[in-house]
Amino acid sequence: MFDKITYTNRRLKLRKKIKSGLILLLGNTESPMNYPSNTFRFRQDSNFLYFFGLDVPNLAGIIDIEDGKDSLYGDDFDIDDIVWMGPQPSLKELGEQVGVLSTHPSKELAIKLKHAISLGRKIHILPPYRSENILRLEKVIGVGQDLIKYYTSKELIKAVVDLRSIKEPCEIEEIEKASAIGYQMHVTAMKMAKAGMKELQIAGTIEGISCANGTMPSFPIILSQHGETLHNHDHSQILKEGGLLLVDAGAESVSHYASDNTRTIPVNGKLTQKQKEIYNLVLAAVNNSVEIAKAGMPYLNVHLAAAKVITEGLISLGLMKGNADEAVANGAHALFFPHGLGHMMGLDVHDMEDLGEDYVGYDDEISRSDQFGTASLRLGRKLQEGFVLTVEPGIYFIPALFEKWKSEKINQGFINYDKVAEYLDFGGIRLEDDILITPNGARILGKRIPITPEEVEKTVLS
Ligand code: GLY
Ligand code: MN
Ligand code: MN
Repeated sequence: MFDKITYTNRRLKLRKKIKSGLILLLGNTESPMNYPSNTFRFRQDSNFLYFFGLDVPNLAGIIDIEDGKDSLYGDDFDIDDIVWMGPQPSLKELGEQVGVLSTHPSKELAIKLKHAISLGRKIHILPPYRSENILRLEKVIGVGQDLIKYYTSKELIKAVVDLRSIKEPCEIEEIEKASAIGYQMHVTAMKMAKAGMKELQIAGTIEGISCANGTMPSFPIILSQHGETLHNHDHSQILKEGGLLLVDAGAESVSHYASDNTRTIPVNGKLTQKQKEIYNLVLAAVNNSVEIAKAGMPYLNVHLAAAKVITEGLISLGLMKGNADEAVANGAHALFFPHGLGHMMGLDVHDMEDLGEDYVGYDDEISRSDQFGTASLRLGRKLQEGFVLTVEPGIYFIPALFEKWKSEKINQGFINYDKVAEYLDFGGIRLEDDILITPNGARILGKRIPITPEEVEKTVLS
């Protein structure tokens, strides 16, 4: 947790962006896994964490624009709770930690909100994403769940996105801590990437590193020799000589900031010539993206530049043909690179995605493309100093997508389908770094995880 001034200042900034009414921010509750007292690991809501800082279940915060007060709602623990949980701070003490002096029992939240509604005051909420909180909202606002969406406030969403998009120095420090854990996770995976090793064993070991040094992985670990399946959570295979192990994993720091990196590791360390040719194209696309990303540049342009690097490379290898600019304009690269170049990162690995991807990644100036591939780009708008985002190009050979495009003759003027057919058992390569937009361009957060073929080989064999 940061100093209480951090949270007081954030709430003050939020107030200035909202014209009138009450802002309600619900923290998360415990959520049962298979019976009520066996819960999933508790994860606080990121918006609540950002403005109220408390990593404790069952709280709610209110920022009242008219009376100028910030209030915390929750319940003190009784002696029965303390017998099971040990000594706990009171609600008043929790409030003091984050600069909130007005604290109230949970049951008063509904009274406060219903009274405000009866006076015709506006209630601003963010889109709920957990069913427990939808039920809480029904109770405290007093409407059925179908009507809750009318309380979701675009004004509040935009204000929160404005604030959370620009990372404060204390947040960058936390992201760097998550990066340091991520570094350890990836280097460990590289050292374990020997033929005969189980994917499961590597996935479990690096998940342990994230838990031992932070809180947990920042998202379920993606680790597979079938990297062509973009989010492959199946870890059931044994590593084979000649395989490419794609590891997309990150850590959540103790204060819940994320890292998110991908490396693709040749089992036993050595890329074949064919693998190296594709690997170096992806590497060139990452490096070019980090080099050109800067404040004022739309991330859509950085995405398209990465697509062009990949396309030019695939043309030189004979997998694509024609003019690279025209191929990218027609979306032909998306047969190989069917996802976006990256996304914002912070308290969430896909930062603020609960608020709506288009509010976070697009604006009045730049709207989302509807072309296959680029349509998946989560962040397209102009970059600003203080943004933290991922750069994660890839090249994949997805048999089902190949069959569809080939049979429908999609972009056949740009793709050498016969040549691509020789790569259908290749798998996929993705490389992902996290960057901060600085006054002079962009810098990679954390110590860069080994990424050149030589660095990766050396690490696998170390
Ligand atoms: N959560 C996977 C990624 O965005 O890289
Ligand atoms: Mn990732
Ligand atoms: Mn990512």
